[in-house]
Amino acid sequence: MTEDVDLSALRREFTQRTLDENQVSAHPLTQFNQWLDEALQCRILDFNAMTLATCGENGQPSARIVLLKEVDQRGIIFFTNYESRKGQELANNPRAAIVFYWKELERQVRMEGVVEKLSIAENESYFHSRPLESQLSAWASPQSQEIPNRAYLEAKVKQYQEQFARQPLTCPPFWGGFRLIPHYVEFWQGRAHRLHDRIVYRLVSENWQISRLAP
Ligand SMILES: Cc1cc2nc3c(=O)[nH]c(=O)nc-3n(C[C@H](O)[C@H](O)[C@H](O)COP(=O)(O)O)c2cc1C
Repeated sequence: MTEDVDLSALRREFTQRTLDENQVSAHPLTQFNQWLDEALQCRILDFNAMTLATCGENGQPSARIVLLKEVDQRGIIFFTNYESRKGQELANNPRAAIVFYWKELERQVRMEGVVEKLSIAENESYFHSRPLESQLSAWASPQSQEIPNRAYLEAKVKQYQEQFARQPLTCPPFWGGFRLIPHYVEFWQGRAHRLHDRIVYRLVSENWQISRLAP
């Protein structure tokens, strides 16, 4: 760091809002949609960005940001390259966790669950809604693989541009969405003096049980 900052001395108080187990929605995705909407209303940049954690075969976790693209009745949808590191890890072990942090609202949401792939029809529908350049990039990028240099990538884009000038642009078979179906969802609201609110939903015998955890 350019400035001499004592990280251990940095702290701030969270005082904006509260969260009460008697006032939250019965279903965590309903509650999540409400918080997501508030993040949108607050004009938080990249409010739909979330950290996605997956686990390798050797038990090594890995995490990266992906964008939430839809919340449906069953879960949280994001898109990626199925052959990427995350894609391969999820193919071998569909258990995953995601985290949102909206610092402007002093809020965190954590979810744990199991992913499933979207259908080919769902993938094609979303793929074709993306800008043309993004569609070509999906074809051109062997995500997570080592490549020699940037020129390699740009040449690949040009190659696909030429190819798809002659034929319809289809969704790559190695690209698409996952739906994380949660069985654990936690809402964290920052409070004063580190006495934060943590409200947890656990799926037990197909029913959501709500409880409070110590901060
Ligand atoms: C703000 C932001 C949004 C991103 N959104 C996505 C996304 O929706 N899908 C995706 O595959 N990668 C996305 N990425 C890139 C990933 O973080 C990551 O670099 C890439 O997916 C490769 O990860 P992997 O090698 O672990 O599979 C995003 C990165 C940032 C910083």
